[in-house]
Amino acid sequence: NKTLVGSTIGTTLDRFINKKQSEFPFATGELSQLLRDIALAGKIINVEINKSGLLDIAGAYGTTNVQGEEQQKLDVIANIRFIRALKNGGQVCAIVSEEDDEIVEINQDSNYVVAMDPLDGSSNIDVNVSIGTIFSIYRRVSPNGSPVSREDVLQKGQKQVAAGYILYGSSTMMVYTTGHGVNGFTYEQSLGEFVLSHPDITCPNDGSIYSVNEGSYFSFEKGVQQYIEYCKEQRYSARYIGSLVSDFHRNMFKGGIYIYPRTDKALNGKLRLVYECNALAFIAEQAGGVATDGEQRIMDLDPLELHQRTQLFIGSKKMVEKAESFL
Ligand code: AHG
Ligand code: MN
Ligand code: MN
Ligand code: MN
Repeated sequence: NKTLVGSTIGTTLDRFINKKQSEFPFATGELSQLLRDIALAGKIINVEINKSGLLDIAGAYGTTNVQGEEQQKLDVIANIRFIRALKNGGQVCAIVSEEDDEIVEINQDSNYVVAMDPLDGSSNIDVNVSIGTIFSIYRRVSPNGSPVSREDVLQKGQKQVAAGYILYGSSTMMVYTTGHGVNGFTYEQSLGEFVLSHPDITCPNDGSIYSVNEGSYFSFEKGVQQYIEYCKEQRYSARYIGSLVSDFHRNMFKGGIYIYPRTDKALNGKLRLVYECNALAFIAEQAGGVATDGEQRIMDLDPLELHQRTQLFIGSKKMVEKAESFL
């Protein structure tokens, strides 16, 4: 009889990365190492998140970030942990982070840029609701050894070499793509390893779950209001966790659409193109889903500012297309 918990632990993230790298003879191993560095930071933060109620790291840090948001202690801690892990890993020349106003320059002799949201869903930290980390990886465009340029960090989403997220939920998962499909790994505490648990994730082409903050309904443009009415007429389920990574992850498995449209408080939408939307757009498309700003493909948008915001319609292809037909 098959035991419930897989008696043979499957492929670990490390083995998976090594196997994938061997499929690219020209791979230098730098991107592989960078993915391992990100996974390591995720393991470290996971420990702290699981204890945040016990340590004095819950609550607000007492500062506001460039977004005008009150930084939570874990926002700041996660940011420090990731920057340190990426600095020690040696593969990164610069980092763009939600929690840093300017580009964080690391090492001019390295080839990769990381854009990250170190902790997504900060409003949920102190109420034990799942939160996440989002990251995008780009190759620098300026010559190795030269100072990092804004062109290095303001690349279109279509230029990503990898993107992923870590979801600190009922289990801790790392989901990422390098442009050859999407794979999900579940953290096995007893091993201290991420183990392949969801190979080749594909997003259902249609669905009946819609995720939007209806508290802002009266400030949505007409077309968005009409699409929400349509979802209600279809008796869809409304699911809104308040952590983008969690809503996105659920919709990837069950089918669904997540919408963050412009509102009177967020005139260009709330979510940030460079370190939230581009990463999830790459993952969505690699899984057969779609990500647009209501008109254009997210990964075609030209980033002009580090913290530029955009509307986001992301998830099952047929649902995004239906929503756009109302706009
Ligand atoms: P962050 O915590 O990184 O600032 O991101 C929060 C985002 C996203 O995770 C979530 O879906 C959305 O903000 C919730 O915004 P509202 O509370 O305005 O709905
Ligand atoms: Mn924030
Ligand atoms: Mn976020
Ligand atoms: Mn954040």
